[in-house]
Amino acid sequence: MWEAISHHPVRTLDLADSVYRRWARVRMRSGRFAGFIIEVGGVPAASGCVWLMPVQPRPGRRGTTAAYLLSMFTEPNQRGKGHAGRIVRAAMRWARSRGVAVMSLHASDLGESVYRRLGFERTREMRRILVSPSRVRTRPSRKRDDRGAG
Ligand SMILES: CC(C)(COP(=O)(O)OP(=O)(O)OC[C@H]1O[C@@H](n2cnc3c(N)ncnc32)[C@H](O)[C@@H]1OP(=O)(O)O)[C@@H](O)C(=O)NCCC(=O)NCCS
Repeated sequence: MWEAISHHPVRTLDLADSVYRRWARVRMRSGRFAGFIIEVGGVPAASGCVWLMPVQPRPGRRGTTAAYLLSMFTEPNQRGKGHAGRIVRAAMRWARSRGVAVMSLHASDLGESVYRRLGFERTREMRRILVSPSRVRTRPSRKRDDRGAG
């Protein structure tokens, strides 16, 4: 996915793979992360993941867990067949069945129409980079702040 939507050097992407794998495995084992894969003829054609992450309590929102949709990718020769849409719907069902009331994501240009069609809307989230990328550690912190939230 990152190869398709960003300009990171191959080395950065390769390093990120193993970091992401470790990060996802821990959360998968604790039931807070799931991946969905669509195969065509036994070959992976599309995939996507959902992560249950802690959020602060706020008025009008149930619970302190939100679902975050990530890692959406469809092989170029399989696009436009509804694979991504099916994965998003499966991820929504998975999260809803766990009592999660809201799902968010960051849309790429290619992904935006897929999500809009399924009812996702723009929010007013803002962002400020606090540490320049060259100073960011490649290994995730050992401190896990996404455990234990309901
Ligand atoms: C974004 C991405 C995951 C979409 O995957 P996809 O499997 O092609 O998505 P879908 O097929 O569900 O939807 C794509 C288009 O096909 C159309 N479509 C959906 N079901 C269809 C079907 N059964 N038959 C024909 N077309 C269909 C949709 O209307 C949609 O049209 P539009 O976006 O031009 O309006 C894919 O383009 C991709 O991997 N891009 C690179 C990585 C990326 O951007 N990831 C998303 C990060 S947020």
